[in-house]
Amino acid sequence: MLSGKHIIVGITGGIAAYKAAVLVRLLVRRGAEVQVLMTPAAKEFITPLTMATLSKRPILVENFNPENGAWNSHIDLGCWADAMVIAPATANTLAKMACGIGDSLLLTTYLSARCPVAVAPAMDLDMMAHAATCQNLETLAQRGVAIIEAESGELASGLSGKGRMAEPEVIVEALERIIGRPQTLKGKRALVTAGATIEAIDPVRYITNHSTGKMGYAIASELAARGAEVCLVSGPTRLECPQGVRRVDVRSADEMFEACIQEWNGSDIGVMCAAVADYTPEQVSDSKIKKSDDDMCIRLRRTRDIAANLGACKEGRVLVGFALETDNEQSNAVAKLQRKNLDFVVLNSMRDKGACFGGDTNKITIIDATGECPCPLESKADAASRIADRIEQIINNK
Ligand code: CTP
Repeated sequence: MLSGKHIIVGITGGIAAYKAAVLVRLLVRRGAEVQVLMTPAAKEFITPLTMATLSKRPILVENFNPENGAWNSHIDLGCWADAMVIAPATANTLAKMACGIGDSLLLTTYLSARCPVAVAPAMDLDMMAHAATCQNLETLAQRGVAIIEAESGELASGLSGKGRMAEPEVIVEALERIIGRPQTLKGKRALVTAGATIEAIDPVRYITNHSTGKMGYAIASELAARGAEVCLVSGPTRLECPQGVRRVDVRSADEMFEACIQEWNGSDIGVMCAAVADYTPEQVSDSKIKKSDDDMCIRLRRTRDIAANLGACKEGRVLVGFALETDNEQSNAVAKLQRKNLDFVVLNSMRDKGACFGGDTNKITIIDATGECPCPLESKADAASRIADRIEQIINNK
């Protein structure tokens, strides 16, 4: 997949720079042509000789050669590359990328690059968790930079936490994903909801459901892999945010509603995969409700229907909903298709084996105005790919 591809490996000044040697080696082994760019600080951590030897071409640091004035054109580099990966990416470089600062060849090349760009952050845990770093990463992700998440573990400082650069093998896999997939949804913005919402009763108790968010996360990941800019509005879950996806965390149906209404502006695609509570306690007690000997009754009010509200102002965009049913599956799904003004409904029947909450497989039926298409039991990733194919078909036929 990487054979013959032109890849720029940008190395910045962090202790993880030593892993860039392995990364370059793996890329060259896969037949890629690698051009290494280093910041001046990176040379303190790993030698240009090492990187030039492994990449089989001179590394570049400065905008021009002070000896003979030869210009290292960031513009030519930006056009040459099929992909650019900055590994390790320090907090400093990420901040400059987010602000559009071009005070090194690496940064001006990033600003000139027309190809997909990935960053593999590496830094101390507190720098990683700093609001500025988090915001810079979010800004870059929104602009389509693939974030190859740092891992947790022992750090050079002796502290332990999140900040270790992803292993070179993981970075290569991410590059294969970025380069290998046709970017059929490039330029499109997608809003995906996922997971269950949590409706508070008091500070201690809540009402929720069994959704884990796996299907929604698989869809977000698939759309991002096809080049869409994806916003994932997610209820509480243990799942990792997929590469290149911007996640907005919410808890209640009301919070999810507000986030979605805001994100729907400017979106081209909406996939409503979340299991949103249809009812929420009318009143949330500020203090823990104490039990008595009597039975108790909690009055619930209806929540607002996110899908139906987005469907009411769809204006040529693609909107997909889900229906999880135990009986009268088809007719219930068709009713949702019409009521919420959806392009198609993905039906799950609780009667199907292998389509349960939290599993890695699903058995879906796609229902639109023209009829229904039952699909085999398959992985959630394959079901997500099928759903993305159908979305693309609708976009292409518009
Ligand atoms: N949905 C939504 N906002 C809500 C409720 C549901 O966006 N407040 C979306 C879900 O994400 C899903 C679809 O609507 O795409 C599910 O339809 P819904 O009629 O709510 O199904 P159920 O919650 O199962 O309700 P019902 O009791 O009508 O079957």
